[in-house]
Amino acid sequence: MERRDSHVLEEELERQKEFIQLVADRNDGKIPKYYLNTFGCQMNEHDSEKLAGMLSNMGYVETDDVDESDLIIYNTCCVREHAEQKVYGHLGSLKRLKEEKPELKIAICGCMMQQKEVVSHIEKTYRHVDLIFGTHNLHKFPELLYKSFDRDKMIIDVLYADGQIVENIPVKRKDNIKAWITVMYGCNNFCSYCIVPYVRGRERSREVKDIKEEVMMLGRQGFKEITLLGQNVNSYGKDLSVKVTFAELLYQLNEVPGIERIRFLTSHPKDLSDELIFAMRDLDKVCEHLHLPFQAGSTKVLKEMNRGYTKEEYLELVMKVKENIPGISLTTDIIVGFPGETDEDFEDTLDIIRKVRFDSAYTFLYSKRTGTPAAKSKNQVPDEVKKERFERLLTLQNSISREINETFLGKKVEILVEGISKTNDNIYTGRTRGNKIVNYKGSEDDIGKLKNVLIEEVKTWSLEGRLIKEC
Ligand code: 5AD
Ligand code: SF4
Repeated sequence: MERRDSHVLEEELERQKEFIQLVADRNDGKIPKYYLNTFGCQMNEHDSEKLAGMLSNMGYVETDDVDESDLIIYNTCCVREHAEQKVYGHLGSLKRLKEEKPELKIAICGCMMQQKEVVSHIEKTYRHVDLIFGTHNLHKFPELLYKSFDRDKMIIDVLYADGQIVENIPVKRKDNIKAWITVMYGCNNFCSYCIVPYVRGRERSREVKDIKEEVMMLGRQGFKEITLLGQNVNSYGKDLSVKVTFAELLYQLNEVPGIERIRFLTSHPKDLSDELIFAMRDLDKVCEHLHLPFQAGSTKVLKEMNRGYTKEEYLELVMKVKENIPGISLTTDIIVGFPGETDEDFEDTLDIIRKVRFDSAYTFLYSKRTGTPAAKSKNQVPDEVKKERFERLLTLQNSISREINETFLGKKVEILVEGISKTNDNIYTGRTRGNKIVNYKGSEDDIGKLKNVLIEEVKTWSLEGRLIKEC
């Protein structure tokens, strides 16, 4: 059976184009403003670029001032409770603004909306919200916005079944040098702490040809770097009717003219194939940077997390990666205080950090997510214990990050210049292939180019250097 009917999806997108026009016509010469606040991961950031693309076609311009906006959108995340609480806080504070300005539209979308209990809570508690939609029907935004104009009642349109992949949604990217590209949606792993498989559905890969077309277009538009996104890119292609591996996709994208660097996120250790390691080694555009979350060091905790590998297997995998890809930069995600984590278990986490020596780590306090198996555990770790462990972990990782950065002193690195630094007019900023931030004195002309820089000073999070003049 055909996995999806592209003809129907094309028709649907055509329909949305009509709504885009209807909204644009309604503007009547005025230029409405939208305020868009995005929570969570790069996937959400990229979804927001699609919202921005649709809004731009509807004649809207962005503002960072809530008070002057005609439309407010929150693109939400539910991976941790803290992000959800923040959204509720923002929604609460908008009530007064909506009362003062009834024509203001408030929309809320993203992962939080894929939870039925969240939607009913918003429906009851935040009645000033105009529009709720989910991740699976993002492309319907123009239609829903249009319908909300003549309605006082809240519009709720969330698809709880896995959405089909809709290609060619307009995109307005934040950057014009680096671009995010989603290569697959959803996750099949069901790590016991994680809500993502429940809200983003099962793994669905985009066709190679669609991805390649998008990357070719980016190359023609002058983009230099792409980051391929998926919850577990190592599973890419397994669900396609013509099977293809992620490594094979990389080989194809490596050929695209104009693109200088290719990155990807996220790799699951249990699925990281030798083929992918060799592709990273052999392909000139694929950067020597691997984000490889280990989550916890103790094999007992890893088993309870349903991660599918032991501490030893993770360490062996890292060794293989380091042997095959010299100079590889490694980053990771770590959860502190998973239910039942003892002091001894936590020592295993520190042990992995000491042995692997990650360039940097994203560290999270375990957050209880209703509906996930770990949330039901009676062995929740007290907050003070979690926080104390978290601080120890941070101190250790920061000192390792700094020590690794110090090895760059006096060395020449190649950076892709991204733009001017936020703090100083003459200082420009770029990244190495290993994703390290480098600041140096440069000129506007450097932006989007590869430059060689001699590192003269290091900090925990960045390197400072001097441009090496090419002869
Ligand atoms: N609590 C804390 N961190 C979590 N993550 C996912 N679920 C949770 C949770 N319930 C972290 C994982 C994942 C990252 C994106 O978020 O480390 O890799
Ligand atoms: Fe969540 Fe695990 Fe899937 Fe990552 S691999 S999105 S942590 S379930």
